[in-house]
Amino acid sequence: MAAKALTPAIFRLDLEAPEMASIIRPGQFLMIRPTWGDDPLLGRPLAVYDVLRGSSGEAIGLSVVYQVFGRGTTRLSQLSAGDKVRIWGPLGHPFEATPPRGDLWFVAGGIGYTPFLALAKWWMGQEQYGESVDRDQPACRIDFLYGVRHAGLLPPLDEFRASGMHLELCTEDGSVGAKGRITDLMTQKLNGPPNARPALIVACGPEPMLAAVSKWSQGHGIKCLVSLENQMACGFGACFSCVAPIIQADGSVDLRRVCLEGPIFDGSLVDWHF
Ligand SMILES: Cc1cc2nc3c(=O)[nH]c(=O)nc-3n(C[C@H](O)[C@H](O)[C@H](O)COP(=O)(O)OP(=O)(O)OC[C@H]3O[C@@H](n4cnc5c(N)ncnc54)[C@H](O)[C@@H]3O)c2cc1C
Ligand code: FES
Repeated sequence: MAAKALTPAIFRLDLEAPEMASIIRPGQFLMIRPTWGDDPLLGRPLAVYDVLRGSSGEAIGLSVVYQVFGRGTTRLSQLSAGDKVRIWGPLGHPFEATPPRGDLWFVAGGIGYTPFLALAKWWMGQEQYGESVDRDQPACRIDFLYGVRHAGLLPPLDEFRASGMHLELCTEDGSVGAKGRITDLMTQKLNGPPNARPALIVACGPEPMLAAVSKWSQGHGIKCLVSLENQMACGFGACFSCVAPIIQADGSVDLRRVCLEGPIFDGSLVDWHF
């Protein structure tokens, strides 16, 4: 399928890739590049947005959603129906198949919303991705807290609403949802109705936002997982271009490869520079 514009800067690409679609799990990513031309030479990492299914429920393809930044994503936004792309994956570790007990907050900023649709469907037991969910576990409530700078940057969120997540939006200028940053919304929510305290926070977005969400979570004694979106060259551990500073058990900091050990890390173990 051709790249479809969701907003002037955000595109969705549905890929025919039954083999990868039948094994990829939420949290994992793939590297992708057009088959034509050699600029850029390297693929670009994109999270799996969702798996596409045929009439009998079989996995026939997968979708990625991306924001146009530079050469790679610009080329991907110019694809026409029937164009071929080179993809490799699934890469990285997925989220755990079984969600933790209790309410969950998914916290996203900007284009960091892309991994959460598949994860919500998986953890709420609506979809199976490669591996089944523990059905004995009570359905959890998932609040999706999503921040963008202003309303004009919001992508369509119908699929997120249909998934059963509870959406709460915020913008820096107040043009939609609560006014302020995502951590302001988190504080408001925690001080809101009783029992608003989540068992786990999962966050994805720009690094300064991830640092703030992670520190906020630590300050409130709530576990927080972050999905890092470092720039990558190979995607499979060979080049060390994607390293992040991760605090080790003895307190030292070691540079770890996000493509191999991530992209999901405990936020309290990332040595944030913000
Ligand atoms: C595991 C993983 C999953 C990802 N999933 C998605 C996704 O689902 N959707 C999506 O839109 N993006 C996602 N990204 C980010 C995406 O890979 C980059 O935006 C993309 O590689 C940019 O390529 P480009 O050629 O368009 O830009 P480039 O030409 O490589 O860069 C253009 C400009 O953007 C800056 N830049 C590029 N990448 C990043 C970055 N990650 N963070 C900050 N600045 C950057 C560069 O420094 C440069 O200034 C993911 C990244 C990772 C590691
Ligand atoms: S991208 Fe090459 S080691 Fe991670």
